[in-house]
Amino acid sequence: MLESSSSLLFIVFIVLFLVLLFAVLIKRNGTAALLWNEIIRENIINFVMNQSKEQRILNFVLQNAVRGDPSSVVDTIDKYCSEKEWAMNVGNEKGKILDKTVEEVSPSVVLELGTYCGYSAVRIARLLKPGAHLLTVEFNPKFAAIAKQMIEFAGVQDKVNILEGPSEEIIPQLKKKHEVNTLDFVFLDHWKDRYAPDTILLQECNLLRKGTVLLADNVIFPGAPEFLKYVRNNPHFQCTNYPSHLEYMAVQDAMEKAVFLG
Ligand SMILES: C[S@@+](CC[C@H](N)C(=O)[O-])C[C@H]1O[C@@H](n2cnc3c(N)ncnc32)[C@H](O)[C@@H]1O
Repeated sequence: MLESSSSLLFIVFIVLFLVLLFAVLIKRNGTAALLWNEIIRENIINFVMNQSKEQRILNFVLQNAVRGDPSSVVDTIDKYCSEKEWAMNVGNEKGKILDKTVEEVSPSVVLELGTYCGYSAVRIARLLKPGAHLLTVEFNPKFAAIAKQMIEFAGVQDKVNILEGPSEEIIPQLKKKHEVNTLDFVFLDHWKDRYAPDTILLQECNLLRKGTVLLADNVIFPGAPEFLKYVRNNPHFQCTNYPSHLEYMAVQDAMEKAVFLG
């Protein structure tokens, strides 16, 4: 009897230790965090609720944010994603770097690669001067549909166009189909292996002018080594690194600004 209760106690102790170890890993290790949040936890909740995480984020905004107030939408998404479920928005810490860059550049034409739920689109749009415009590219139709509702609820729909499709197809269409001459500001936040090829494509399509500012998210985690190598070793770009943390996590990350010198 004594023997079986002490083995039970030992098993409980081991399980508690493993749970604690995993919790610490999730907080500090980006890969463990993504594995837990994006694959295990999210799929369990999706199955139980029969609803996607992106729909839950939108519902939380519709119920808790102020319609027509983009800053309230941004804050409400941050509240949900820091308290309830992690999501791949740029987040508030790096969002402040994004805000500062938008304010410095004061762009008329902005391109965002990677819309997701529209968090950064709303964040950028709320800072645009009258007449300025943001084109945001998303290849996942479900995410594009959520972003459309988010952008409309925030009241910035007149400043934002969602272009649905892969960046490599949309970029070559920007001049003719979307009447873009050159871009003032580009926010790169789609899949990281597309940063370098799309930066090359933007130049080949003559969409960059002297002074166009590129800002790339997640250059440390998940990381965009090819992009960093390309822009940092290129006399046509002047680079600045902004150390920060992965959205809603204590994991090292950074943004890279690359100014096109012509
Ligand atoms: C990190 S999320 C964007 C987050 C968003 N910028 C924000 O901060 O709110 C990346 C998004 O890019 C989209 N994406 C990835 N590669 C893409 C591509 N080549 N073309 C278009 N969309 C892409 C994904 O579907 C995903 O929604």
